[in-house]
Amino acid sequence: MQYIVLYSSRTGNTKKIAEAIGSVLPAATPCLPVGEAPVDLNAYDCVFAGFWVDRGSADPEAQQLLRQLEHPRVALFATLGADPKSQHAADSLSNAAALRPGGQPLVHSFICQGKVDPELIEQMKKMFPAGHPHAVDEKREALHKEASKHPDEADLAAAKAFAAETVKRLENLG
Ligand SMILES: Cc1cc2nc3c(=O)[nH]c(=O)nc-3n(C[C@H](O)[C@H](O)[C@H](O)COP(=O)(O)O)c2cc1C
Repeated sequence: MQYIVLYSSRTGNTKKIAEAIGSVLPAATPCLPVGEAPVDLNAYDCVFAGFWVDRGSADPEAQQLLRQLEHPRVALFATLGADPKSQHAADSLSNAAALRPGGQPLVHSFICQGKVDPELIEQMKKMFPAGHPHAVDEKREALHKEASKHPDEADLAAAKAFAAETVKRLENLG
């Protein structure tokens, strides 16, 4: 089986996850930013596609890839600032998955938390007054504090387990 890992990452969180995934795949597996993706992905049995969550879906660069990704076997992975067990996380994955023209079910998916750019937090503080749904209140501060620790070793281990499980599923598909 041949795999390729393609990712979009603005501040490095998703890149770390992509590299963890790549580390458990065969040594020759390419692990590239989406901008360097080969035009023809048919040589690969599965495409691991990664993005950072931007307003509840894939970030713009990853969206560009996903909108053209007709490959039947895709494993999607992402990082986000919010709780990875939240409905927002699940919705972000399914919104991104739905961008693909083929609409085939994903082989597998993975999402974990990633630190939020401090500049974005400062912008949010200035932009959103108290009471606004995006205001940086105590709850959001706590979320950002937790996010600042991620991706951590446990996330990287979980990403590796996701890659291993994806390989197993592909082998079972034959
Ligand atoms: C413009 C912008 C929009 C974002 N939108 C969301 C969002 O809707 N939900 C969320 O949980 N995190 C959001 N985030 C946080 C990022 O998804 C998160 O920090 C991610 O781990 C960044 O990954 P990267 O380091 O690979 O760029 C946003 C960040 C930015 C800069």
